[in-house]
Amino acid sequence: MNAVNKPSSTAAGNITLQNLDDEEMVTYPVEAFLSKDYLEAEKRLLWPKVWQMADRLEVIPNVGDFFTYDILDDSIIVVRTAPDEIRAFHNVCAHRGRQLIDVPPGVNSATGNRRLFRCGFHGWTYDLKGNNTYILDPRDWAKRGEGLNPDCTSLTPVKVDTWGGWVFVNLDPNCEPLREFLGEVPRILDPFEFGKMRYKWRNWVVFDCNWKTGLEAFMEPYHVAGTHSQLLAYGDYYAYSKAYGLHGVSGFDERDPALRRAGGTSNNRAGKGADPRISTYQLARENWETVNNASTTWTLVEAARRLVDELPEGTPGPQVIAHWLKRAKEMDAQRGVIWPSISSAQMTEAGLAWHVFPNMSLLHGPTQALCYRTRPYGNDPDKCIFEAYSIERFPEGGEPKTEWTYAEPVKEKWGPVLCQDFSNMAAVQRGMKSRGFRGTLPNPHQEQKVTNFHRNLANMLNRGTPRLFRK
Ligand code: FES
Ligand SMILES: [Fe+2]
Repeated sequence: MNAVNKPSSTAAGNITLQNLDDEEMVTYPVEAFLSKDYLEAEKRLLWPKVWQMADRLEVIPNVGDFFTYDILDDSIIVVRTAPDEIRAFHNVCAHRGRQLIDVPPGVNSATGNRRLFRCGFHGWTYDLKGNNTYILDPRDWAKRGEGLNPDCTSLTPVKVDTWGGWVFVNLDPNCEPLREFLGEVPRILDPFEFGKMRYKWRNWVVFDCNWKTGLEAFMEPYHVAGTHSQLLAYGDYYAYSKAYGLHGVSGFDERDPALRRAGGTSNNRAGKGADPRISTYQLARENWETVNNASTTWTLVEAARRLVDELPEGTPGPQVIAHWLKRAKEMDAQRGVIWPSISSAQMTEAGLAWHVFPNMSLLHGPTQALCYRTRPYGNDPDKCIFEAYSIERFPEGGEPKTEWTYAEPVKEKWGPVLCQDFSNMAAVQRGMKSRGFRGTLPNPHQEQKVTNFHRNLANMLNRGTPRLFRK
């Protein structure tokens, strides 16, 4: 790791948001992806301090329903304690430390319904609120002193809150409220009403790359030309990106600055081609068929298919898009799927896809989102748990039954486009170890979201510091 020019954590100070806004050329060191020390720093300074998406609220609809969320050595139980209340606890018995709920290797998240949590070792028992309700022979502790009390026999609580139908947990008892942590994200994304969407599918797998390598494969459309070249037949993939504090967004843009964002920043845009009635359909169909039925909806594809019948030849692109979205909204309403009202200004600001710090990524439309989450796997910086899932607005009660499914990274399970993304992951991880790699050169316009991620990590961990390239 001693190549010339390789930036290190001892390099000059971290870059600022202003550097990103100014689209200055920056670089950050590969230790963030490769070093065990960096992973140890994440274990101390990142994961115990941040709000993390644990799962969707829909997983625990009834009192007593619970799920587990594991991050490195910590396991958390999230349980519904009342129709309008959920709580979270560390998944550990107060007696001698057995995990209360077993989460065997190969299981992503344990789920079930309990009135009581009974430890499998000596039978200590807890109610849904974490109070200890049973200890065998408690008087044995009281023979020479005060004995047991709730402070030492109850479950240890974990901070929990929700946004957009997602359950977030924070292991820091003194953390800032979730809303503060999310910054501008709720203001910009609440119009999409993610809370009314439900899981359509949810898959996971283990990859031979760092959790950041895996997540960053989905943080910018700059890779589309190189990785998904077949998509260029249907659309241009030039993108902007923008930092919002801890978080960031990317969206479609135009190479010609005079046309900036004129074609729409989201996935619902005209395709490439002379006749937008046809190209819009082709792009929507391609997205539907190759991105595992998740980056758009069947209604949008079907409404796009009808554009040639419903609009005269020569209809300008913006009118085609307006008609398409109006028709799709009507078609969905007929089957009981009511679109949220999102103004075109809101749609533009919301862009294509968000990174919610640290490990959540979502690509959204009015009635769907394709989301990603990655986590470290064991103590190995070269491995991660990778998850992708689709949520969609269904007619009342019409959502499918889903569970976290281990899925080999093959086309049949994930669709061809995601498999193209997967093909980069281990190769990036291996490549960054090369002594010939001089350090990253993220695109200042299109990959700001990734750079901002490392800027924020560096602020938290005090290492892996991005710096201006010229210094
Ligand atoms: S470790 Fe749980 S009852 Fe002993
Ligand atoms: Fe991709």
